[in-house]
This record gives sequence, C-alpha cells and structure tokens, in this order.
Amino acid sequence: MTRKLFLLATGLFWLVVLGVWAASSRSPAPGEATPVRAMKRLPLTEVARHSSAGDCWMAIHGKVYDLTAYLPDHPTRPSVILPWCGKEASEAYRTKTKGRPHSAEADRLLAGYQIGVLEEGK
Ligand code: HEM
Repeated sequence: MTRKLFLLATGLFWLVVLGVWAASSRSPAPGEATPVRAMKRLPLTEVARHSSAGDCWMAIHGKVYDLTAYLPDHPTRPSVILPWCGKEASEAYRTKTKGRPHSAEADRLLAGYQIGVLEEGK
C-alpha cells in the first residue's frame, strides 16, 4: 500500500515536471523578444499605410518597425526622420542621410520596435 502510494506520488511528480517544461518551452517568457520565425510577414504596401507622425512604420534591412512611440525621442528635429515613415528606410538608417552610421546603441533601440519581417517582392 505504502509502495503503491509512493509510486503514484512519484508518477504525479514527473507528470507535473513534464507539464511545466512543455508549457515553458512553447511560449517565450514575458519581455523576451518574439523569435523572428514567428514574426508577422508584412509587405511594403502595408508599411506604406503607416506614414504619419501618429502612425509611423519603417522597413529597415528586411525588418518592419513601428517607430511611432520612438519619434519624439529621436535626437534631431522631426523633419529629419518623419519623411521615412511608411517607407523602405535602410539606406537612410545606415547613413543618417549624411554618410554616417547610427551607433550600436541606436541599433539596440531599433530592435525593440520590430513588429515583423518585410515580405519580399511586395
Ligand atoms: C530612418 C531614418 C533616420 C534618419 C534619416 C536618422 C538620422 C539621424 C541623424 C541626422 C542623427 C543626428 C546626427 C548624427 O548623429 O549624425 C541621428 C541620431 C540618432 N538616431 Fe537616427 N535617424 C533615423 C532613424 C532612426 C531610428 C529608427 C532610430 C532608433 C530607433 C534612431 C536612433 C538614433 C540615435 C540613438 C541617435 C543618436 C546618435 C547615435 O546613436 O547614432 N534613428 N539620426
């Protein structure tokens, strides 16, 4: 009887351990970046619909970013960055339109605004 109870408890314990492991391996932890594979594929025609200061998306190096919340923090006058809302802005981002690259800190900031990957050929 005691042995049966012991076996039952051990079995239940491992079932719970397996359950917790399966659940945590399926969904990313809170705050963790969504894996690129799971990201939404967005065509440039969709990016183009978000071309204002109040709704600003950009396609940069094959990824799509919603930069609406970042715009007021950009350290230039708005007219430098606003024209790129709704556009393919890789070249502008790579050169700041002045032949100078953004810093690693800017790259790190940018990564936080990714909402999808650019759907090629659209
Ligand atoms: C795509 C259009 C963009 C243009 C044309 C542009 C242009 C510029 C310019 C002219 C400067 C200031 C002058 C300089 O440092 O040489 C600057 C600085 C900066 N920008 Fe942008 N920017 C763009 C997008 C972005 C985005 C999307 C981010 C980040 C989410 C960003 C983050 C920064 C940061 C952090 C700085 C300070 C200097 C640095 O870290 O490189 N910019 N940008």
